[in-house]
Amino acid sequence: MRYIRMGNSGLKLTEVTFGSALTIGTENLNQEYADKMIAQAWDLGIRSFDVSNNYGMGAAERLVGKALQRYPHEEYVVSTKGSWPVGETPYHRGLSRKHILWAFEESIKKMGLDYVDIYYAHRYDPETPMEEVVRTFNYLISSGRVRYWATSEWPVEALQECHEVCEKLGMEKPIIEQCIYSFAVRKAEKNGVKDFCDSHGVGMLGFSPLCQGLLTGKYRNGIPEGSRAAKSKQLQYDKTMNFYEQNKERIDKFLETCDIYGLRPTDVAIKWGIRKGIYPVLGASRPEQLTDTLKGLETEVSEDAWISFEEI
Ligand SMILES: NC(=O)c1ccc[n+]([C@@H]2O[C@H](COP(=O)([O-])OP(=O)(O)OC[C@H]3O[C@@H](n4cnc5c(N)ncnc54)[C@H](OP(=O)(O)O)[C@@H]3O)[C@@H](O)[C@H]2O)c1
Repeated sequence: MRYIRMGNSGLKLTEVTFGSALTIGTENLNQEYADKMIAQAWDLGIRSFDVSNNYGMGAAERLVGKALQRYPHEEYVVSTKGSWPVGETPYHRGLSRKHILWAFEESIKKMGLDYVDIYYAHRYDPETPMEEVVRTFNYLISSGRVRYWATSEWPVEALQECHEVCEKLGMEKPIIEQCIYSFAVRKAEKNGVKDFCDSHGVGMLGFSPLCQGLLTGKYRNGIPEGSRAAKSKQLQYDKTMNFYEQNKERIDKFLETCDIYGLRPTDVAIKWGIRKGIYPVLGASRPEQLTDTLKGLETEVSEDAWISFEEI
């Protein structure tokens, strides 16, 4: 597993980050399950772990935090996020200093950690002035409980403003933008975010690199038993098949092209983001899936095949 430097910062992450939305703390609330998943990721060489305060409404932070306590914190990177609504009032959402300082304290309490390596402004909040956001995340860094801050799914205009404010105030800039990115969903290449990150030294992580499982090819003959789409009621999440409907042509052509070149779709999907410099934040509902997906890191894909994928 390679370590990749995140933009202009000094932080290096393993080329794959393991994330726990909809799995640890949502699909399964057992500590034993969380321990197994984290141990599998660790044994495969992953040293970057991603949660958020809204995954299982705190359960993912509790379970992943506990599982990670078996490992020395100086040997891995863990991130969590704030701003997603976690309650009914304006104090339970957004990027105000009032909410973020409360949400952060809740997060590290649940995780049982002294500090997190990366704290994300999970979504942009147009109702909080950028200077307040920058000062709040910088305060967390200077308090010693956050090493770096980052953004997720921010529009390019907000990233631009944020960088300008940081420059003006001489403050730490966010080092990573984490956005949705896979072969199927590539808006970061079109909405200016990738260009901005590349030209401003911001590292990029792409979540849902398998497009929630659709790019493994397992939905070719309908919804398979035990898959995320089949579990939509249990997970209270029903968007997987919408992703298929919205990107049907590209996904079908991707799978056909894999067949033509004799490639496993999962292997190509995991390599796609790495090739583009938008490093995967990968999910898995079982330990074997992690092993299966990471096999892709070793797979050779010819330049001819990449050209065909680029043409889709
Ligand atoms: N920043 C954000 O706003 C944001 C938003 C979403 C996610 N994320 C992060 O990104 C992480 C990954 O998201 P994701 O779970 O949507 O990503 P994904 O990697 O595209 O999908 C993971 C799902 O695909 C299926 N799968 C995985 N490996 C497989 C394999 N080898 N063969 C067959 N099926 C396989 C599993 O679902 P089933 O077994 O259930 O079918 C698994 O849970 C999250 O955990 C979270 O940390 C961040």
